[in-house]
This record gives sequence, structure tokens and C-alpha cells, in this order.
Amino acid sequence: MERLQKVIAQAGVCSRRKAEELIVQGKVSVNGEIVTTLGTKVSGNDYIEVNGKEINKEEKAYYVLNKPKGCVSTSNDDKERKTVLDYMATRERVYSVGRLDYDTSGVLLMTNDGEFCNQMIHPRYHIKKKYLVNLQGILSEEDIRALRKGLKGKEDSYLPAKVWMLETDIVRERCRFELTIQEGKNHQVKNMMKELGHEVRRLHRVQFGTITVENLQPGEFRRLKPFEVKELKRLATEGEKQ
Ligand code: URA
Repeated sequence: MERLQKVIAQAGVCSRRKAEELIVQGKVSVNGEIVTTLGTKVSGNDYIEVNGKEINKEEKAYYVLNKPKGCVSTSNDDKERKTVLDYMATRERVYSVGRLDYDTSGVLLMTNDGEFCNQMIHPRYHIKKKYLVNLQGILSEEDIRALRKGLKGKEDSYLPAKVWMLETDIVRERCRFELTIQEGKNHQVKNMMKELGHEVRRLHRVQFGTITVENLQPGEFRRLKPFEVKELKRLATEGEKQ
């Protein structure tokens, strides 16, 4: 969220000072309502008009970041920790598509397109997210069956997930597997594992829809190609029909 006068100035309409004057004079509307309060905050999704003309919206931008662990996905953090925006040297003001926890790494889409963001994260669209999970504990046959069927836990229930076991270390009681889920609830993977009595040691998102972080070091990002954005939107349209 940004101050209205800053957004108007950044859109190249006028200076920030002039924008303040226009706001006070009642020449600015946000989503169809005149706004005269200077502190008003707006987001990329708000429809802003100055003197009855829509301000020049930024071009839609889509990126994938290989989020390193040790940063938050929100734009600012009250504990002043590093944020994903510290890695995003982009012209456009982007934000993350959903969230990854502070200690989770991997695929994080970044955009300024609110509608796209909603399509990617809303469970209705069933976009698949694949995680590499390092677990303290060993998934039993019964755990795997429950995950595949759709885990019904004490705290919450989840849609069927795919499980692909990679490694089991009986001595240290650890295992490593890929888990593909089609929702994006808060701390979903950790909570699913908690329901089964296990603790996630390390979590990395390998894939979001069709997008991976191949060839990106932690902290690196790249612009999505138009066909990749199109494909993600297609997945959402297909997913909605499920
Ligand atoms: N599930 C989690 O528990 N954490 C994440 O960051 C992503 C999915």
C-alpha cells in the first residue's frame, strides 16, 4: 500500500506536492469515490482518477523469485527483517503471489496484477504447488494414504495431495519427499505434517503451476515469459472447472 499522492506522482501525472493539492481540492477519486484525505493509502488494484481521467497504470509485470530462506514475503516487516522486495530490483512495484514462510525457500511469483494474483492463490483455481519436504519423523504408509486421500486433521482438512518419497533415514528418523498440494492455506505443509505428528525441518517450493526456479540462485529472479503467464492463467481456468 502506498500513499495516494505518491502513486499519482509516480504515474507521471504531476509532482507529489501538486497531487496533494488536487486531492484536497476533491479532484481525485479512488474506486469511484472522491478522496480528500492526504494520508489515504492505495494498492495496485485501486482504480484512481485525477480530474476524471484514469491515471496511467503501470504495465503488468510477472516475475519468479528464488526466495532464499531468511526473508519475509510481505513488503514490510514490523520486526525489520529482510523482505522479498530487497531482492526485487524491478521498475514496477510488485508484491508476492501468496506467501512463503520466513524459513521456506523456492518459487515465489511476484506481480503487480491483482487479478492474476487472486487466480493463482484462490483454492477455487486448484493451481498445484510442489514442495520438497525434509521431515523430522518418518511418514508411515497410513500417513501417505491419508495425505493422498485428503487429510482430515483435528485442526483442519485438506484436499488430496500427491506424495513422492525420496529418502528415508531410519537411524536419524528423518525422511525427504515431494508433496504436491492444490490449496495454499497458511503454513499448510507444516500444519499438515503437524496433524500427522511430525515436524518440518526444511521446506523448499520446487514448482508453482508450471514455474520452477531452474537456473536461478537463491535471491535471483527473472521475468516470466508471456507464454508462461498465459499457461498459468490457462491452468487457473482449467482448475476452476474441477
Ligand atoms: N506451507 C508451509 O507450511 N509453509 C510455506 O512457506 C509454504 C507452504
